[in-house]
Amino acid sequence: MERTLIIIKPDAVQRGLTGEILRRFEARGLRIIGMKFISVSQALAEKHYEVHKGKPFFEGLVKYIISSPVVVIALEGTNAIAAARKTIGATKPQEAEAGTIRGDFALEIGRNLVHGSDSVENGKIEVANFFTEAELVSWPRNTDPWIFE
Ligand code: RTP
Ligand code: MG
Repeated sequence: MERTLIIIKPDAVQRGLTGEILRRFEARGLRIIGMKFISVSQALAEKHYEVHKGKPFFEGLVKYIISSPVVVIALEGTNAIAAARKTIGATKPQEAEAGTIRGDFALEIGRNLVHGSDSVENGKIEVANFFTEAELVSWPRNTDPWIFE
């Protein structure tokens, strides 16, 4: 089973879109294995966005993610990485298809509402960066046989 880290970013929390965004991942069939409401520290933000260090938008990106609380969610499922990214939509909201989170609720790249891990490897790393093992719950969901073949 793949794991992906979802962050409901500060703009989404401030706009009251937390429930709407969570609903879409739940409805997709992904299984929640961790969830918490936190303020991201500067250190964790820099670690999370390490690959973007040196790029012109890096400082603004870190500032954005620490500016206000976020909801972090660890999801598990078959094809969790690709499924979550399809549900999220393209990085630039103006290129995101209608029906995706960004395509329905966002307009600008620096206010694109949600993060999803971009590879199986990064999914594992990012979930471990935001959650301790004790915070992750391994549970058999009663609907699993109706969602996973
Ligand atoms: P995310 O990591 O947030 O799920 O988004 P993503 O994979 O679609 O995009 P990524 O390339 O990983 O970029 C991470 C976040 O950085 C901001 N960004 N700004 N101004 C710019 O050119 C620019 N490029 C990226 C976005 O907030 C993006 O989500
Ligand atoms: Mg990314």
